[in-house]
Amino acid sequence: MLQSDAIAGSAFYTRTALFIYDYSVLWFSNRFVWQCPTPHLLTFYNQHLTDRHLDIGVGTGYFLGHGMFPSSKPQITLIDLNRNSLSTAAKRIARYSPAMCLANILEPLPLALDQQFTSMGMGYLLHCLPRPMGEKFPQVLQHILPFLANDGVVFGATILGSPRPTGLAATFMRTYNQKRIFSNIDDSYEGLEEVLRNHFYTVSLSQIGHVGLFAGWHKRV
Ligand SMILES: C[S@@+](CC[C@H](N)C(=O)[O-])C[C@H]1O[C@@H](n2cnc3c(N)ncnc32)[C@H](O)[C@@H]1O
Repeated sequence: MLQSDAIAGSAFYTRTALFIYDYSVLWFSNRFVWQCPTPHLLTFYNQHLTDRHLDIGVGTGYFLGHGMFPSSKPQITLIDLNRNSLSTAAKRIARYSPAMCLANILEPLPLALDQQFTSMGMGYLLHCLPRPMGEKFPQVLQHILPFLANDGVVFGATILGSPRPTGLAATFMRTYNQKRIFSNIDDSYEGLEEVLRNHFYTVSLSQIGHVGLFAGWHKRV
């Protein structure tokens, strides 16, 4: 895969884009376009966040900033390919002194192997990544699973492009895919489920509007 393919999905997140992201995506699009209002996603985040958390594709850090961790001093590491996203999210959760890692999740990660996380979140990351679900999601998992603790969970949400949406969602989906901000035309619930079942012992998957919400555990929970 070309590095430029991966960069296209993260380059969109300029300071200006991040400045309006919470309003344009989290308030407007989630409710009126993707039909998955942000409070659903925040509840989902809160169900899975732990005190040793790795977040991948951090955007503005909204879910970490508003999320509830089990304790007041969670250890958080942020991964993103875009410096603006990393610094915006880090500033938002400065109270937790997060570690930051500038990296492409489609390549091996520059993390120390003795670092083990009990939760790993990837909100709205997969639909930004190039390649079909059956290639990109296993590639992401290959890079993060060595850092997942035995009882840890990988969770996230992603906008699904298949079956083809209609109305406003179809317009947004087409435009974002043409600009390569999204690469999710063929991403389906079934495709997501297949990857999860191939990698995890216990899987949870649901769909709200056009958004798939998923979680996978190494062990039975
Ligand atoms: C849509 S934002 C998601 C923000 C936040 N997690 C949320 O749920 O609202 C996608 C983020 O993923 C990052 N990203 C895209 N491609 C990436 C890649 N290949 N590796 C790491 N981060 C990537 C972007 O820079 C951006 O910060």
